[in-house]
Amino acid sequence: MIKNILITGGAGYIGSHVAEILLKKNKKVFIVDNLSTGHKKLLNRKAKFFKINIRNQLKINNLIKKFNIDSIIHLAANLIIEEGQKKPDKYYKNNVLGTKKILNACKQTGVKNFIFSSTAAIYKEGQYRVSENSIIKPKSVYGKTKLKAEKLIKEFAKKNQINYGILRYFNIAGSSPSGKFGLINKKSDHLFKNFSREILKNNPKLRIYGSDYKTKDGSCIRDFIHVADIAEIHFLILKKIDKLKISKILNCGYNKGTSVLDVAKEFKSQTTKKVDIIFAKRRKNDLVKIIASNEKLIKFIKWTPKFNNLGKIVKSCISWEKKLIN
Ligand SMILES: NC(=O)c1ccc[n+]([C@@H]2O[C@H](COP(=O)([O-])OP(=O)(O)OC[C@H]3O[C@@H](n4cnc5c(N)ncnc54)[C@H](O)[C@@H]3O)[C@@H](O)[C@H]2O)c1
Repeated sequence: MIKNILITGGAGYIGSHVAEILLKKNKKVFIVDNLSTGHKKLLNRKAKFFKINIRNQLKINNLIKKFNIDSIIHLAANLIIEEGQKKPDKYYKNNVLGTKKILNACKQTGVKNFIFSSTAAIYKEGQYRVSENSIIKPKSVYGKTKLKAEKLIKEFAKKNQINYGILRYFNIAGSSPSGKFGLINKKSDHLFKNFSREILKNNPKLRIYGSDYKTKDGSCIRDFIHVADIAEIHFLILKKIDKLKISKILNCGYNKGTSVLDVAKEFKSQTTKKVDIIFAKRRKNDLVKIIASNEKLIKFIKWTPKFNNLGKIVKSCISWEKKLIN
């Protein structure tokens, strides 16, 4: 049975939500984070926090042994696409070598379950609805590092007895229904974050990159999934891989495409201010449209999303942002 869970990157956006749900399920939660993009404010008081770099294997090994960690949810990574293009070495070291260190720690300490946050950014451009068997060909450095990490995990699992869940997240948005956790990192270049910050200003300007893509309204299309649904998925998958002693690679999304313009219009509809929607030049490394085929996920954990609603996602982002500035 899963009992003591270590979350790397637990002071980050997704990690704080995963910690919240695991604690609600009465699991013991241990967090390793170097606070490079994470925040103390996002640390759950009921979790034990260690300010450690994931590449410090000795300290990680000791922590795993001391607290009898049985499962690791490995979220710590660098994830800004543009930054990755400029600093490939930084991304390789953190996302690939960092994962290797955590896997070595699993081997040396006998951790049994491993959950990894991968991304839709590993899929080849132009496939639209992708299943886990769709063509893999990451465009960005970030996507490439996540793919390398996936390969490491698979190779590692072949040689060592470990159950893994590789979760390919699509675009995550929203904040915790409890109102306690959300996205803080201003450098994250996150669409909902940027729009939430803008909508609270006097003359909000919502900037959309690209207006002439071959999509229904010319803007990019994504599969946005509420962070609270993603957090619950972690718990359900961890429980299942532990129980069945198996490994899975799963897309995590709603199987629903929403355009960036749809998102902007939803933000606009939730304020009485005059909002300008501005179209800017396309960005180099954006995929045009991608959504998750999620049949495997639904089947594996018998999943029903609880927050699959754009209006609700936007509302939760705005109320989180208001809380941050007050
Ligand atoms: N946010 C998304 O839409 C999205 C989509 C797909 C995949 N992911 C993946 O989900 C994971 C979490 O993303 P997030 O949105 O919560 O980002 P985040 O930046 O908020 O969280 C990452 C956390 O990892 C920590 N960290 C980074 N490097 C570390 C290191 N060397 N040692 C210790 N801690 C370190 C950071 O301080 C931060 O708290 C990442 O692996 C990311 O690639 C996120």
